[in-house]
Amino acid sequence: MAKAATRRKSIEPETKAAKPEKTAAKKKSAAPPAAAPRVTEHARIEAKRGTATIYLGDCLEGMREHVADASVDVVVTSPPYNIGIRYGTYKDDLPRDKYLAWIEEVSREVARVLKPGGSFFLNVGNKPSDPWIAWDVAQQVRKKFALQNTIHWVKAISIAKADAGSASGLASDVSVGHYKPINSDRYLNDAHEFVFHFTHEGDAKIDRLAVGVPYQDKSNIARWDKTGGRDLRCRGNLWFVPYETIQQRDKDRPHPATFPVRLVEMCLKIAGAKAGSVVLDPFLGIGTTAIAAARVGADSIGFDIDLGYLRIAEERVREELARLL
Ligand SMILES: C[S@@+](CC[C@H](N)C(=O)[O-])C[C@H]1O[C@@H](n2cnc3c(N)ncnc32)[C@H](O)[C@@H]1O
Repeated sequence: MAKAATRRKSIEPETKAAKPEKTAAKKKSAAPPAAAPRVTEHARIEAKRGTATIYLGDCLEGMREHVADASVDVVVTSPPYNIGIRYGTYKDDLPRDKYLAWIEEVSREVARVLKPGGSFFLNVGNKPSDPWIAWDVAQQVRKKFALQNTIHWVKAISIAKADAGSASGLASDVSVGHYKPINSDRYLNDAHEFVFHFTHEGDAKIDRLAVGVPYQDKSNIARWDKTGGRDLRCRGNLWFVPYETIQQRDKDRPHPATFPVRLVEMCLKIAGAKAGSVVLDPFLGIGTTAIAAARVGADSIGFDIDLGYLRIAEERVREELARLL
């Protein structure tokens, strides 16, 4: 976990009951809650490849102050799961009802800023002993959005050579990827998380083949008219995306709950994010979404309450943009 060298006062998530929606412009003049420091711009990194803007502060206040109505093409985010993860600043142990009310409020704000044809990818995982979290969260978001796709982020998988078939070229059974092992005589290790794809009406166009895979049986290319002769098919909704291999946890992944850049990049690609698109992550952490946005050439906006994480995010995004030049 990151040791935030400089920490600001924690901003507790808001849990108050739903308020009527207002436009960003109207809300801009409203004073922030007494306990919450104003959201400040931590860094604006401008490059040929796109601009990444990183804000320090609560995402609800931040979205209200800095993100206009219907201005965002794609939101990719992973909120705290309320499972007691030890973040640098945030306390991940709210009473369930308050946590879910907060998630509802965040999703209402996301609904306000997302363009009509936009996509909202929400990554949430469960704990074996609390298997409803992801669905409880999804039910809150459902109040404002349609669930268009449910993607399973598979972190580890085992495939028997016999099941893969001879065309796969597998030399032996394989077991690949990593998960956080649990000691239990009740639960299986949890090797996946959800990425819920929410849209306003459930009818946003997506580019499935942007993350397509080659046919294993090449005779299908000619058999199916829709291939247009291309050796590419939809990969489906099970995405095996292992964590990037790291040497030292503290140095290479200094945050207790990140997702892989490639997972975010795949979401952005199917949503058609490109140069000129605006990508938002209300819970930026160490900047994974901003890095993925840079890879597809999009601009990004991110919020986090932890200055230590944002310093790392800024460094990672600068490195990525320099690498991509
Ligand atoms: C699951 S982590 C996101 C990690 C990120 N996806 C990454 O790959 O680095 C959730 C993040 O939400 C931040 N957070 C918690 N409450 C917040 C709030 N009210 N506004 C903005 N960020 C908040 C935490 O500091 C934490 O970094």
